[in-house]
Amino acid sequence: MAEPRIVLVTGAGSGIGRASALSFAREGDHVVAVDIDQVAAETVVGEMAQDQGLALAGDVSSPADVTRIIDTTMRRFGRLDVFFQNAGVPQAARPIEEIPLEEWGRIIAVNLTALFLGFQLVAPIMKRQESGVMLVTASIAAIRPRPGLSAYVASKTGAVGLVKALALELAPYKVRVNAICPGPARTPMISKFAISGSQAEIEERFMASVPLGRLIVPEDIAAAALYLASDAASIITGVAFEVDGGRGI
Ligand SMILES: NC(=O)c1ccc[n+]([C@@H]2O[C@H](COP(=O)([O-])OP(=O)(O)OC[C@H]3O[C@@H](n4cnc5c(N)ncnc54)[C@H](O)[C@@H]3O)[C@@H](O)[C@H]2O)c1
Repeated sequence: MAEPRIVLVTGAGSGIGRASALSFAREGDHVVAVDIDQVAAETVVGEMAQDQGLALAGDVSSPADVTRIIDTTMRRFGRLDVFFQNAGVPQAARPIEEIPLEEWGRIIAVNLTALFLGFQLVAPIMKRQESGVMLVTASIAAIRPRPGLSAYVASKTGAVGLVKALALELAPYKVRVNAICPGPARTPMISKFAISGSQAEIEERFMASVPLGRLIVPEDIAAAALYLASDAASIITGVAFEVDGGRGI
């Protein structure tokens, strides 16, 4: 049997992060589940086998929190094989002149600056190991934007650019860096992209934009993360991997 990998997933308390953390755990990996919501992180770890998961609370946009989380992981396990920066925040769709500067700041801080912070701390570890995979949850909004999401699109487009730049920088060390670009996914976040409508109405509207005719589910994205983190994807780096039922075409 293969050695268990050490996998860190941010935003692991809900939606895509939760499904991914549980999928890696089912593979037999050790999973560090990070979330700003401590109870949510502990709940997902509670669904894993005993001693397989470690729940750590923290805000990924806080340099102090991210440093503590990486230090704790390294003290406990001594290495990091998969670093999946998935935590993110949505933006309610509206014209650019109605987006407060504070909201822009928070979206950029969590969806983009946090990635930079995490990469800065983990790149030296993976370079030393001469192995490792970094994953980011970007969005199909980075590939094919729609109106009203200017701050969110800017943050996710920045994320894809950062991933591509880092993929080149770390390739000589055999470290791979990839972005996953989900289409509209059935998670608690989806209703927060809309200004009005019930959850069912919002899901119906988003579903209409997906050529394959169904919403993406967190397990679709977890499967992509598992693949991109695996040796089967050992030649794949710097991609923006669309998991979107054709929404990006
Ligand atoms: N749901 C969609 O339609 C969709 C589509 C494309 C991309 N995405 C992206 O997928 C990722 C996951 O979203 P989801 O749909 O699973 O949402 P979700 O709301 O179900 O889960 C997000 C998790 O991230 C955590 N989180 C938020 N801010 C944090 C912070 N500052 N520090 C640590 N944890 C934090 C939340 O507590 C929550 O548990 C996000 O980056 C999102 O932008 C979602």
